[in-house]
Amino acid sequence: MTSAHPLMVPAPREAGCPFDLPQDYRKAAQQGPAVKVGTPNGSECWLITHHEAAHAVLGDRRFSSDAMLPNFPLMSEELRKMVSESRKSTAEIDDQEHIRRRRMLTAEFKAKTVEALRPRIQSMVDEVLDEMTADGSSADLVSRFALPVPSAVICLLLGVPYGDHEFFMERSHVMLDFNAGPEAMMKARLELMEYMNRLVADKEREPDDALISHLLTGGELAADEVAGTALLLLLAGHETTSSMLALSTLALLRNPDQLALLREDPALIKGAVEELLRYLTIVQNGVGRVALEDVEIGGQTIKAGDGVLCMISVANRDEAVFPGGGELDLTRDARSHLSFGFGIHQCVGQSLARAELQIALETLLRRLPELRLTVPVEELRFRDGVGFYGVEELPVAW
Ligand code: HEM
Repeated sequence: MTSAHPLMVPAPREAGCPFDLPQDYRKAAQQGPAVKVGTPNGSECWLITHHEAAHAVLGDRRFSSDAMLPNFPLMSEELRKMVSESRKSTAEIDDQEHIRRRRMLTAEFKAKTVEALRPRIQSMVDEVLDEMTADGSSADLVSRFALPVPSAVICLLLGVPYGDHEFFMERSHVMLDFNAGPEAMMKARLELMEYMNRLVADKEREPDDALISHLLTGGELAADEVAGTALLLLLAGHETTSSMLALSTLALLRNPDQLALLREDPALIKGAVEELLRYLTIVQNGVGRVALEDVEIGGQTIKAGDGVLCMISVANRDEAVFPGGGELDLTRDARSHLSFGFGIHQCVGQSLARAELQIALETLLRRLPELRLTVPVEELRFRDGVGFYGVEELPVAW
């Protein structure tokens, strides 16, 4: 396949509002629900931009999320190698094996279990805020709040020593950063795998009452599979929620009317978090699939073997489903957003992410009524091109 395409993925964001979609994606959405685009390695894939079409693809078992299949979008040879060397996680496999592993995880992350965790999450949030505010009246909200909260929660859940969080936070940042280059990404992933293998060996000797030990004593997964799964959870558990926390705070500060609504009526928090998940859609490079058979989507025949990229950020602003979707509106019913994906790979950690976001944002706004940015938005550095959108630092005062 050649890449003589006017539209390429991933498309860069333009200057201006940091939450606007790249213009190329908006153009693609105008062209239709499924449009062929070029990829950096010279091949092409289908870009799915309409909500109905993205929903259809993600819910259809004829699309595989096996990243080892040829034409899997945004998968360079180096990345493919990296995935093949550590194919021990849930997100990249399909079928019976996926169902088996996913079942073990969903048991640990079900809504009821997460509900029971709320008081502990609340006290972790309070503790992190106590430390941040004890040090003065200004701070970088990313390193002092948005990262520590999800990091502490996922460490507790997995049974990973929180003292190691700097080690794995640094590496996971690089591992998910396409701009770091394949060698650095691979090195970071290998170091993290070594760390996890060591930790799993420790838990084999001395089990505790946390998730890694549960998976080991369940007896269905070999030690290296437990390590792969734990690594996926560790990464998914803090990179995502921390980006959401920082960007949500920024989005609220940039929309004072919406912030005021939420401050006046904290009961809005659940709906507000859904709307923030929709508006921000941090999975900014979309969700990849490969068609296993010929499938018709949005009037186009996607041929067996074609790569497909569901651009959920664009689908989440589809005017047909979310009128005025380019705006943040905390009173909107945003629950049909696709920010956690849909179908058999839908996010395992969504109840946990929701609980963390609701508790952390409500507490932050309640405890810091004077919260404000201390630099112009133009000076902030955003994580563009990276799997999860985010902001590197968020200097605030209160
Ligand atoms: C706001 C935070 C989060 C967002 C936006 C998010 C988003 C997503 C999306 C879009 C998928 C689907 C990928 C696909 O279909 O290929 C996914 C899958 C997954 N997520 Fe999350 N996630 C978040 C938080 C979490 C947390 C906190 C955890 C765990 C602690 C987690 C664990 C997972 C796992 C294990 C999968 C793979 C599920 C499977 O393939 O069956 N995520 N997530």
